[in-house]
Amino acid sequence: MAEIKCIGIVTSGNDAPGMNSAIRAVTRSAIYNGLRVKAIFRGYKGLIEGEIQEFKTQNVSNIIQQGGTILKSSPSKDFLTADGRKHAFENMQKEEIDALVIIGGDGSLTGARIFAQEYDVPCIGIPATIDNNLCGTDTTIGYDTALNTIMQTVDKIRDTATSHERLFFVEVMGDDAGFLALNGAIASGCEEAIVPSVEIEEDQLNHFIQNGFRKNKGSSIVLVAANEKLGGAMHYAELVKNQFPELDVRISILGHLQRGGHPTAHDRIIASRMGAASIQALMKGLRNVMIGIDNEEIVYVPFSRAIRDNKQIDHNLIEILHNISI
Ligand code: F6P
Repeated sequence: MAEIKCIGIVTSGNDAPGMNSAIRAVTRSAIYNGLRVKAIFRGYKGLIEGEIQEFKTQNVSNIIQQGGTILKSSPSKDFLTADGRKHAFENMQKEEIDALVIIGGDGSLTGARIFAQEYDVPCIGIPATIDNNLCGTDTTIGYDTALNTIMQTVDKIRDTATSHERLFFVEVMGDDAGFLALNGAIASGCEEAIVPSVEIEEDQLNHFIQNGFRKNKGSSIVLVAANEKLGGAMHYAELVKNQFPELDVRISILGHLQRGGHPTAHDRIIASRMGAASIQALMKGLRNVMIGIDNEEIVYVPFSRAIRDNKQIDHNLIEILHNISI
């Protein structure tokens, strides 16, 4: 196995708060352990186009608290092609990069897996996505911050909902996973969460309106996971308006504000731990694994498992939500 002297670090896919904390930890742990660090800008696109710069410890000063990613991120159609990946590998050789640390979500790790197989490049993934949809890790960087943003925003919506005795449908991000909608609903004391893995029929919604909103509530808030199949907050608000024209229904779509802001302490800490663990993993000779946290312990999850796309919400939580929102 060739000795690793220089690592490349890249953020890819959608940004998530805490990515900068991870960039800082990877950079400084690498330098501490005698490795050189090359920062790759604008995701895999930057690797293909050679947007690469050596990083010293000062390059990551004062970023632990910043949302977004100082390395920028950009989708790369070219990295999906064999030709694009060939250019990426050539640039790695030119820059003398021996291994890659990829900070991102399922798409980014899927790309890393293919690249690692094709060119035998040691790759380590760090899970960063607000969706929390990577398997083998309890949580991903950015999820806790997004959850807190949702909670704070829904608290504000509650003030106006209660004043006007309204029913709100609030749409949150989260892709197909539904973690943000479900746990966001629990954290904000919402009356219902509509998530992709649980089908809500029209009569269930009617039941909720009759027994929840109408019975003893001054206001109600339903969190809806943004999802093409579900139709989003608009769809459910229309259903209810048609059925109960007397209700004062409003919609709020939280959108990209959920991706921004200062990372929480929790996200900064897991990003720092995972960043340091990525360098330890490379030095131990591990390859093509994602760093995870399972029951507070660092674990190494093979890419094939991490991106399996079947991380399930805990269905007991739906029951808890229902039981404590009566
Ligand atoms: O993966 C993170 C995420 O914020 C999803 O929750 C959301 O569906 C998607 O990205 C939105 O992506 P875009 O920024 O391209 O609209």
